[in-house]
Amino acid sequence: MLQNPKRYTITAALPYTNGPIHIGHLAGVYVPSDIYSRYLRLQGRDVVFVCGSDEHGVAISMKAKKEGITPQEVIDKYDGIIRKSFSDFGISFDNYSRTSAKIHHDTASEFFRKLYEQGDFIEEVTEQLYDAKADQFLADRFVVGTCPRCGNEEAYGDQCEKCGSTLNATDLINPKSTITGETPILKSTKHWFLPLDRYEDFLKEWILVGHKNDWKPNVYGQVKSWIDGGLEPRAVTRDLDWGIDVPVEGAEGKKLYVWFDAPIGYISSTKEWALREGKDWEPYWKDQDTKLVHFIGKDNIVFHCIIFPAMLKAEGSYILPDNVPANEFLNLEGNKLSTSKNWAVWLHEYLEEFPNQQDVLRYALTSNAPENKDNDFTWKDFQARNNNELVAVFGNFINRVVVLTNKYYEGIVPTPNELSTADETILTELKAYPAVISSSIERYRFREALGELMNVARLGNKYLADEEPWKMIKTDPARVQTQMYVALQIAAALSSLCEPFLPFTATKLSRILKIEDKIDWETVADNSDLIPTGHKIGEAELLFAKIEDEEIQKQIDKLEATKTANLVENKVAEPQKELIQFDDFAKMDIRVGTILEAEKMPKANKLLILKVDTGIDVRTIVSGIAESFKPEDIIGKRVTVLVNLAPRNLRGVESQGMILMTNNAEGKLVFVNPDADGVGNGETIN
Ligand code: 2FM
Ligand code: ZN
Repeated sequence: MLQNPKRYTITAALPYTNGPIHIGHLAGVYVPSDIYSRYLRLQGRDVVFVCGSDEHGVAISMKAKKEGITPQEVIDKYDGIIRKSFSDFGISFDNYSRTSAKIHHDTASEFFRKLYEQGDFIEEVTEQLYDAKADQFLADRFVVGTCPRCGNEEAYGDQCEKCGSTLNATDLINPKSTITGETPILKSTKHWFLPLDRYEDFLKEWILVGHKNDWKPNVYGQVKSWIDGGLEPRAVTRDLDWGIDVPVEGAEGKKLYVWFDAPIGYISSTKEWALREGKDWEPYWKDQDTKLVHFIGKDNIVFHCIIFPAMLKAEGSYILPDNVPANEFLNLEGNKLSTSKNWAVWLHEYLEEFPNQQDVLRYALTSNAPENKDNDFTWKDFQARNNNELVAVFGNFINRVVVLTNKYYEGIVPTPNELSTADETILTELKAYPAVISSSIERYRFREALGELMNVARLGNKYLADEEPWKMIKTDPARVQTQMYVALQIAAALSSLCEPFLPFTATKLSRILKIEDKIDWETVADNSDLIPTGHKIGEAELLFAKIEDEEIQKQIDKLEATKTANLVENKVAEPQKELIQFDDFAKMDIRVGTILEAEKMPKANKLLILKVDTGIDVRTIVSGIAESFKPEDIIGKRVTVLVNLAPRNLRGVESQGMILMTNNAEGKLVFVNPDADGVGNGETIN
C-alpha cells in the first residue's frame, strides 16, 4: 500500500451502454468511488476521478438487434441516460468519457500496437465457435453454455458470471448460439493472444505476496484461486463487426476484445480530462507516487486484477493499481437485480418518484452496501433508514439547533460562557471524528464510515437531550448561550463531515448555516470554533422528510407487477387441442349469468355450491373454486356459464352446468375475463 501518495487516480467501472443505471450499480461502484474521491478532495489531495461509457462488445450488438436499431443508436441513447443519472446523483467524476470517442480509439490502438511491436502477443490460427446459420463467429455473449468450472448452464463465451471464471468460448460444454439457438461448429481463424501464463510469477509476487494484507479478502481470495489454478493465453481480438479495429496488418475485419479496450478507457478518460484542464495526464498513470484505485463489482475482478495489470506490465511504462476494492452484489427484495427482467430500481425512475431525494438513496445504499457479502435492498429498509435515521437522528438534531438559535438569538451564534466538563468532552470527541471516519474510508469501509458520521449527529442529539436548553432558557440563559454555541459547532462539523456521503445535504446544511467556505476536515479536527460567535445563520428548513407507508407500498406494488409481467412472459402456453368442427362448437350453450348465492360444500375444501341466475332459470352449480374465493366475495359476480353440460352429482348435490374459469400468471383461478390482472395469452378456459 502506497503511503503518502502525491496524487490519486480513481476509476469507476465503465458501464455498458446497453441499459440505464440501477441501484446495484450505484451501491457497488459509483457511490463508494464518489465517497472516496470527495473525501480525498476535502483533504486537499490531488485527485482525478474518471469513468465513461463502455460502448463496444457483444452486449451492445445484442441490444441493437433486440431493439431493431443500430449499435450507434443504442450507445447514444444510453450514454445520454447514464450521464444524466450520474450527474443527478452527484457522482463527481472529473471526467466521463465514451469508448466510442476518437481519443479512446487512438489510445487503445496505440496500446495494442506497442504490445504487438514488443512481441508480447502470440499470433495463432485456432478453431473457434462459428454459427453457420448466422454466418458469424461466436464470441463472448453471442454464445452460452455450461461452465466447465461450476456447472452454470448460462455461462458466456468469455466469462461465467456465477463463479467469476474467465473462459474461452471453446471451453463451454454444450455451447449454443444466442443469435440463432444453433449448436456452433468449429472454424479456423487467426487471433492475437495475451500469454497470461508468462505473468504468473509477476502476479504472484505483486498480489499474493504484496497485497495479502491490504486487499479485501473477497478480491484476494478470487485472484489467488485463479493464479493457483494456472493461467492460460487469452485471445484479445475478435471476429466481430462492432468495436475498435485491430490496428495491425493481416487483421482486417477483426476487432479488439471489449475487455482489452474498456480498461484502457480509464486512461483515455484521464487524457480527455487533462486536455480540457490544461494538465499532464502522464503522472496520473505513470508516476510511482500515484495511487491508482479501481472501483468495480465482483464480476469484474479477474479483468482488473489479472488481465489489465498483465497488459499494463507488458506495456511497461504504467503503474499498477494500489487497490481494487470490489464489492459483492446487491439484490432487490430477495432476487438478483436484472436488466433484462426489469428487476431493478432504475435511477431515473427513482427520481421521478422521490424528487430531490438522492441522498436518501445514497444513504440507504451505503449503510447496506454489499462490501463483504451480497446484500438485499428492500423498500421497507429504505423507509426505515430514512425515517429512523436521517429524519429522526440527523434531521432532528439540525432542526432543533437551527430553530432554537433563531428563537433565542435571532439566528446569531451566541457568545459561549465558561465550558462545563460535558462541553469540553463533547468538543474533544467531535475533534476526533475526522480521523475516525478517515480511517474507515482509507480502508474502503464506507458503511462503517457512514455509521461514524451518524454517531456525530447522535452525539449532538444526546447533548441537547442531556442539557435541555429549552428548559434552562428561563432559569439560566447564560448557560444556554454556551449550550447552543457547542451544538452549533457540532452542526457545522456535520456539514463538512457528511459531504462525501450526502453531498446534497451538505450543500443544504451549509446554506442553512450560511457557511460559505467549505470547512475541511483538518479544521474540524483542530478547531472548536467552526462557526463563530456573531455569525448569523438562516431559517430552519427540513433536511429530510418522512416517507409514508403509501409511497413505499407503491414501489412494492410496482415490483409485484413486474413479477407478474415476467411470469406471463415466461409462461409456456399449453399445446393446442385437436381441431373441431363448427358444429362441435355450436353444441355448447354458453350464457352470461350472475351468482346469487354461494356457500361452502360441507367437508370439502375445494367446492362451493352456487345459485346462478342464467337468464333461463336460477340453478345450482357446484364449482371447484373454494380455495380461490370466499363465498361472500362472489355474490353478485357476473360469470360465463356452460348451461347445457349434462348434470353431475357432486357429493350429493346435483350440479347443473359449469362456470368458466382460467388461471392468472401465479396459477390462481380467476373468472373468465381476459382483462383480469395477470391473465396472459394462451390461458385455457375450463
Ligand atoms: O461489467 C461491465 O459493466 C463492464 N462494462 C465494466 C467495464 S470496466 C472497465 F474495464 F472498463
Ligand atoms: Zn462458472
